[in-house]
Amino acid sequence: MHDTLLLFGATGDLAARQLFPSLLHLLRDRLLPEDFRIVAVARHAYDDEAFRAWLGERLAGIENGAEVRAELLRRTEYVAVDLSQPEAIAQTLRGYADGHRCVSYLATPPYLFVPIAQGLKGAGLLEEPSRLVLEKPIGSDLESARAINAALGACLGEDRIFRIDHYLGKAAVQNLLALRFGNTLLEAVWHHRWIESVDILVAETAGVDGRESYYADYGALRDMVQNHVLQLLCLIAMEPPASLDAAVLRDEKLKVLRALRPFRADSVLADSVRGRYEAGLVDGEPVRGFSLQAVQGREPVETFVALRASIDNWRWAGVPFRLCTGKRLAERVTQVVVTFRPTSHWLFEKPRRERATPNRLVLRLQPQENVELELMSSLAGPEWGALELQALPLDLSMPTVQRRIAYERLLLDALNGNSTLFVRSDEVEAAWTWIDSIIAAWREAETPILPYMAGSWGPAAAANFLPQAPARTLGAQRDRRVP
Ligand code: BG6
Repeated sequence: MHDTLLLFGATGDLAARQLFPSLLHLLRDRLLPEDFRIVAVARHAYDDEAFRAWLGERLAGIENGAEVRAELLRRTEYVAVDLSQPEAIAQTLRGYADGHRCVSYLATPPYLFVPIAQGLKGAGLLEEPSRLVLEKPIGSDLESARAINAALGACLGEDRIFRIDHYLGKAAVQNLLALRFGNTLLEAVWHHRWIESVDILVAETAGVDGRESYYADYGALRDMVQNHVLQLLCLIAMEPPASLDAAVLRDEKLKVLRALRPFRADSVLADSVRGRYEAGLVDGEPVRGFSLQAVQGREPVETFVALRASIDNWRWAGVPFRLCTGKRLAERVTQVVVTFRPTSHWLFEKPRRERATPNRLVLRLQPQENVELELMSSLAGPEWGALELQALPLDLSMPTVQRRIAYERLLLDALNGNSTLFVRSDEVEAAWTWIDSIIAAWREAETPILPYMAGSWGPAAAANFLPQAPARTLGAQRDRRVP
């Protein structure tokens, strides 16, 4: 049986920037099946040759050698069809992949998920063991997510639906599982008794230029928190799974999502900040503010959100999870900081107890992937005297292996049928349930969207949500110490 990847939305940005380059790398490393082929599907009126020329140009900048690129193009054919028309899709693709094991990847806007799935079903391309891979967002609230999940469920079984969250394909995120469950030391203190707070920060310098129309319906909360940030939170907060089996791991993540305390109108002002960027300077370059034209007539959306989340269960009672993400911020930083409680008794004068740095575990995804555990240690000085302590980072970074695009891992898993790193329908719905509570509370409390200058750290009101502001992160401290 041959393996075929049907890539819908093949002329789109995601396909060109992430999916085809990932396929190129997998092909170069001989990780794809021998007889693997790609059917690129989109509505653009290309033929095979024109599409290959377009794709070849997009891939030209990748250092892989012309040979692999030529091989990828040789294995790729193009089909033009209106993606909103199930019947047209069924007619065009019927018999197309007979005798092939098909993985259909929908790199399209979500309103096309259902028509494409119905078209594929009509074409007989969703029979066992074929699979369907979907990009986020799955809906824009609980109701729409349920409708999509139900319609997809009518086309094929949940075990063959692979919902991508590309953060789960990042090596540093997988390392979180290794750190938590491969070490006695960490798991023993992974508890409200020893952990004071958890901060998840996803700061981007990029704006939403060119994506205004999509973004105007989503905003930072729906675009980033509902999926990437909550997936990170789940991996930090979940109970140890009995195995890495997809069902077992996802059951544990689901329990966390269901334990998230819903937001309420009477506390939402204290527990969240919304912001929207205005013109400013990013990396020394002037940039425009978020275009209000794009949102005219629609409910206003935020480009920055900070939340204090609570997980109501035994392990996490009372531990704040501060979640923060925004566009056009001062730096591109993605990190998770777990801050441990102070020691129960302090023996030292230097520094005084109040100035001692708590132990912290920092898992950084951007700009570089690394992991550090910050511990107090004595300074080796030339003279004897009172012990002087300072925080030193223990570098737990992964050995430098070849860095892979997150999509490489996920594409391979989807082709091999391993759904551990994909999101199940009930997870998506539980995440939306919580997100909907925030949106409802914002509406009821008429939470303002505060302006912030592009290139800043967001609205001033968010300072309390950013105790680990990147200038104070371990990497920065270490950079200062080491000349
Ligand atoms: C996407 C969001 O899912 O993730 C974008 O839609 C965001 O708005 C992107 O920029 C961030 O991904 P990464 O891997 O660059 O952190």
